[in-house]
Amino acid sequence: MGTGYVGLVSGACLADFGNAVVAVDIDETRVELLRSGEVPVYEPGLEELVGRNRERGRLSFSSDVAFAIQSSEIVFICVGTPSLPSGEVDMSFVHNAARTIGQYMEDFKIVVNKSTVPVGTGDEVEQIIRKVRPDADFDVVSNPEFLREGSAIYDFMHPDRVVIGAGSQRAMEAVVDVYRPLYQNDTPMVLTGIQSAEMIKYASNALLAAKISFINEIASVCEAYGADVTAVARGMGLDERIGPRNLFAGAGYGGSCFPKDVQGLAATARRGEVDAPLIEAIDTSNVRQRRRMVDKLHHLVGDFSNKTICLLGLSFKPDTDDIREAPALEMVASLIEAGATVKAYDPAAMEHSKQEHPDLICCEDPYTAAQDADAVVLMTEWNEFRNMDLPRLLDCAATNRFLDCRNIYDPHEMVRLGFEYVSVGRVSRSPGETNDTSSWMIPGRFSPIRT
Ligand code: UGA
Repeated sequence: MGTGYVGLVSGACLADFGNAVVAVDIDETRVELLRSGEVPVYEPGLEELVGRNRERGRLSFSSDVAFAIQSSEIVFICVGTPSLPSGEVDMSFVHNAARTIGQYMEDFKIVVNKSTVPVGTGDEVEQIIRKVRPDADFDVVSNPEFLREGSAIYDFMHPDRVVIGAGSQRAMEAVVDVYRPLYQNDTPMVLTGIQSAEMIKYASNALLAAKISFINEIASVCEAYGADVTAVARGMGLDERIGPRNLFAGAGYGGSCFPKDVQGLAATARRGEVDAPLIEAIDTSNVRQRRRMVDKLHHLVGDFSNKTICLLGLSFKPDTDDIREAPALEMVASLIEAGATVKAYDPAAMEHSKQEHPDLICCEDPYTAAQDADAVVLMTEWNEFRNMDLPRLLDCAATNRFLDCRNIYDPHEMVRLGFEYVSVGRVSRSPGETNDTSSWMIPGRFSPIRT
């Protein structure tokens, strides 16, 4: 149920495992689009996977919810759980899905919650179905997803673990069986209770987000004392208890998951009357980090009014057109509000960004975006920015100022090319500055491991 990001990826992958999957959505236009072979989600490899499984007859799309429920043994709830203004999670779509299941089910069903939901949702889903159908025979299971946008299919097919929380043996066995193809990769299965499975998802996202907020704060301390956060992250990450992943300092985390889930967990703790200052601080720190990027730019160019700023990257991370909670959009909003002209280039996210900020000038490549700019700001580390013709970019811009919010360039090289280069957690450099250590440092040894 639900053909959003999680529903489509999970449906297509489960079909690829050999299951018969009907992906159902109440949005008829979306279903028609999917039936015509279009995939309304930007995810590398998804269109091909959907197409292949449709051709083989294992994956179909429908807006007939009754048919979809009645013809299935297992119903996966994959609907959205957006944030309410209070930070609490809007559970209305999950609740509606539960009501609909209760309404149409005719025989035994296993109802699996894949949507990211606060602990306790399994019980709520059970109560809602029971209220609609007091005599119904069903089991509720929690099976959270750990998919990253941009590598969701790989993540589904090669998970670090599969988490299944169930209250009965029959339900546990049935859902374990769905993931049988992963046994050949020796995928660890965490089989537990429903509440614990729900907590695993929230706690994992919160800790991943905390790592980012932590390294971002460390980056600021590095700046104050002349240390290099990339070397610090590498030195920390080689301790196996810490690990190298999610230690990239940058513009702050964005996307549809971390901001929402961290706030959701904090709200869940408050609702349970639990004092959780560390969890509360993850989001506060992230909000500050985004603001810090705006301040850095202000420091670099001065007053924003009547300035032209070039932004490279708008999506919340590379390989997606998703701009939800993207740090770049906060930058756009601050600049436009202060009277700057903002020219941007992003390989996938310009259409969405333009809808949000009609004043944004979208350009066909980085060089056009940099034309006459008072500063170039890299917001998202798309691969194509790593191989840019930097001398050409410098020629296009009105000045040599460059703010790299993702630390993708070598500071010494940028200065050698003639940029006044500012990044995150590394000493800022201007052309002519001497203490260049690049001649004796071993290249590559001091950067964190990107996985
Ligand atoms: C995240 C989790 O990584 C997935 O495991 C989880 O399943 C998913 O949320 C979800 O709950 O559905 P996603 O939001 O797609 O996945 O993206 P990430 O790759 O984790 O990146 C999130 C944000 O953190 C991005 O803005 C990224 O730029 C930022 N980030 C990530 C950093 O600033 N530094 C890092 O070291 C890593």
